[in-house]
Amino acid sequence: MTGTVVAVDGPAGSGKSSVSRAAARRLGFDYQDTGAAYRAFAWFCLQSGVDVKNQAEIAEAVPGFSYTIGTDPDGYFVQVGGTDVTDDIRTPPVTSIVSSIARVPEVREHLIRLFRGIIAESGRPGIITEGRDITTVVAPDADVRILLTAQPEVRAARRAAEVDGANHVDIAAQLSARDAKDSKVVDFLNAAEGVTTLDSTDLDFDQTVDAMVELVRATIKIA
Ligand code: DC
Repeated sequence: MTGTVVAVDGPAGSGKSSVSRAAARRLGFDYQDTGAAYRAFAWFCLQSGVDVKNQAEIAEAVPGFSYTIGTDPDGYFVQVGGTDVTDDIRTPPVTSIVSSIARVPEVREHLIRLFRGIIAESGRPGIITEGRDITTVVAPDADVRILLTAQPEVRAARRAAEVDGANHVDIAAQLSARDAKDSKVVDFLNAAEGVTTLDSTDLDFDQTVDAMVELVRATIKIA
């Protein structure tokens, strides 16, 4: 039986993965990172020699994709066909093609079904699922729906701080290029009706986690 469902969307570098995971840990909830699945499928296409410029070839690869994600916030891992790809899916070759992969309708349909299955199977009191279209497409009926935003300069600075020796200007350009591509497929820059915007521009990490946890607790109290 599924408990409280929390849907979180936001642009690249908004901190939604780390904030959602920390909030899930505090609440005793499961945590599902949906971007990891798009990245894992992109990794799988590269490994399988799929021509990533060819949409038909990408769609044909979908049935052979076997994916497992750890939803315990303290036991996060990503596997494709039994191979651990937790770190490999964050590397530049994957990041540079993931947007092209994510816009293929057959890929989205398949992964959306998979995400809903993981939400339905959660055995914890709740699950936080984060991505780009969770509040609107994957779980529009979620108990709590949040759009996590931050000003582009702040997002670029946070991402640059995570990457050793990163050039701030390069990171900002990469983030805005990826957002521009991704937002053509799903709108995650504007809150849909009924979605609460959480702007973390002036908040530090702990304050943002506090705000998310409060939003969830307030909803559970009302329910
Ligand atoms: O959150 P992330 O950067 O790991 O996501 C990787 C890519 O996956 C991102 O460029 C857009 C895509 N994505 C998507 O289209 N829909 C989602 N729900 C999550 C991610």
